[in-house]
Amino acid sequence: MIARKVPHMIYGADYNPEQWPEEVWEDDVRLMREAGVNLVSLGIFSWARLEPSPGEYDFDWLDRIISLLHENGVMVNLATATASPPPWLAARYPESLPVTQNGVVLHPGARQHYCPSSSAYKERASELVRRIADRYKDHPALAMWHVNNEYGCHVAECYCDTSAEHFREWLRARYGDLDTLNEAWGTAFWSQRYAEWGEILPPRSAPTFANPTQQLDFRRFSSDALLKLYEMEKEILRGATPEIPITTNFMGFFKPVDYWKWALREDLVSDDSYPDPSDPEAHIKAAMSRDLMRSLGDGAPWVLMEQTTVRVNWRERNIPKRPDVMRLWSYGAVARGAEGIMFFQWRQSRAGAEKYHSAMVPHVPTETSRSWSEVSRLGAELGRLDELLGARGEAETAILLDWESWWALELDSKPSTAVRMLEGLYSFYEPLYNTNVSVDFAHPGSDLSSYRLVVAPNLYLVTDDSVENIRRFVADGGTLLMSFFSGIVDAQDHIRLGGYPAPFRELLGLQIEDFVPMATGETNRLDTTGGETCDLWADLIHPEGAAILASYTDDFYAGTPAVTRNVYGEGAAYYLGTRPEERFTKLLVERVCDEAGVRPTAEVPPGVDTVRRKTGAASFLFLLNHNQETVEIRLPSPGRDLLTGKGHDSQLTLDPLGAAILQEERHKVDV
Ligand code: GAL
Repeated sequence: MIARKVPHMIYGADYNPEQWPEEVWEDDVRLMREAGVNLVSLGIFSWARLEPSPGEYDFDWLDRIISLLHENGVMVNLATATASPPPWLAARYPESLPVTQNGVVLHPGARQHYCPSSSAYKERASELVRRIADRYKDHPALAMWHVNNEYGCHVAECYCDTSAEHFREWLRARYGDLDTLNEAWGTAFWSQRYAEWGEILPPRSAPTFANPTQQLDFRRFSSDALLKLYEMEKEILRGATPEIPITTNFMGFFKPVDYWKWALREDLVSDDSYPDPSDPEAHIKAAMSRDLMRSLGDGAPWVLMEQTTVRVNWRERNIPKRPDVMRLWSYGAVARGAEGIMFFQWRQSRAGAEKYHSAMVPHVPTETSRSWSEVSRLGAELGRLDELLGARGEAETAILLDWESWWALELDSKPSTAVRMLEGLYSFYEPLYNTNVSVDFAHPGSDLSSYRLVVAPNLYLVTDDSVENIRRFVADGGTLLMSFFSGIVDAQDHIRLGGYPAPFRELLGLQIEDFVPMATGETNRLDTTGGETCDLWADLIHPEGAAILASYTDDFYAGTPAVTRNVYGEGAAYYLGTRPEERFTKLLVERVCDEAGVRPTAEVPPGVDTVRRKTGAASFLFLLNHNQETVEIRLPSPGRDLLTGKGHDSQLTLDPLGAAILQEERHKVDV
């Protein structure tokens, strides 16, 4: 269960009552009851209203709205209001403003205009949090804490002088002395040797490529600087209310912030998610984020903290979700472990930058609104899903993701800057999704022993511990599928010498003589029966025990192996030295799943997403039809659809964009 005080599927939104006259609040709570809302995130952007001038606080309005919500059965996910400082903070402490890499100061007038290392920001923010915590800690409506908002969303790093000082402190803690730092940063190169700590700067705009380790460390430092802010607030809240769960909202695969580190420090994971309805694969990309969220919390239930009912306002063209899509995508989140579905925001703003962003309550009268009827329907349905609470997903496959490796992979001055982490992850996630295989994401240093198959896309930077962890996984009988440009550097972004990829040579049974990055539009071909093409990158592989599964057919390296398999210990390690066309990756993924004994959740028609969640006593099969046509599904077990209450024996018909959650009668099902 997400929060003891809301022992149901959570349903609600960001609620910004300060944007409206109080007469509207009565209407708000009436409509919340109508829609089945049981939790709202309150006060996220209220700092200027709560502390109109420095040290002068006004909580009366917040008291009134919290009481009104409580009287109407709506619980509160109370925000700490620190996401957007009031203009007076910048006026009084101009040094609190963030500075970009080019030295440009970011001014107030939008939001998130604070330097994460600013002491003025920290002092004023923590005082505000203290007062909020103190005032509401015993309020019966308080169900959850919402710390700040989307850390790093607009300002993930700051290059000001204070940040420079904090960066140096962070480096001192990491390296101890300058010699060690000089060694780690490889400063013998380009005359970069530092003689004094004071000479070290963040990687501000420079004539050409900045030192890669300096850049990498600055990313680590910047993620940690934000994490410190989160911890500062969390400590205050924990002291006031040891029992109330604390979260801050994530943003899916958000590069600047290392969510593995963060999730460990949260009571529950929550996520904001805005898939692009104009992208035909949006639901698959969304599923990938949902699987990440479940994995970050080690399988625990999480909350979809923000999504939109219909449209956002921040793309160039804001394509609406078609009828039934919001419902279907919401169940896509529930299928992957969400026990809360919430929106940005409750009532659509009348002024400000987000007035064209859809909300649960639209500008137009609710009686004439398609989205309102969808919102009410979903609220009513979620109210019937209490049985699902606590049910967990089960994955036999893990895709490895390490934020540090992601940062290092995408630094400049590489063989090819076209190798992108998310594309690498997706190139394996998509075929696994399409074969109905459940996937976790895992840190390469985490316990992998529960998986049969581990996929390591472009795992560029590896620590010795991760290397040993992966090696042991295979030695103990696991199946590994690793793709190109993995195991190339250590934690300092220094090349691991001894023939690429040095730490995995023995495991993979090969050596890579060189990389051949390909030009835009350039392809090669594999000597498979299907003759599939490949692009982006070609490793020139010399097998050292590995069996060759495919070789290149063209160019100066024709005949050189591209795909291999090596038996290692009790397991097997596959290596993919290029980016093949999807058809090939799909076949390869099917083969490794087969070999690893990874089973699909169920056999369903294409375009149907199927996921299972289980408790000790029950098993729930989600069937989500992303097709525009009706589909017939043969059920692996008879069951009852929680959404309709109807029983189904062996067959179930799903409408276009329809969803079913089947409580299975036989729940040890082998497909
Ligand atoms: C999120 C943010 C919300 C709102 C929303 C609009 O990034 O947390 O406050 O701006 O986007 O899509």
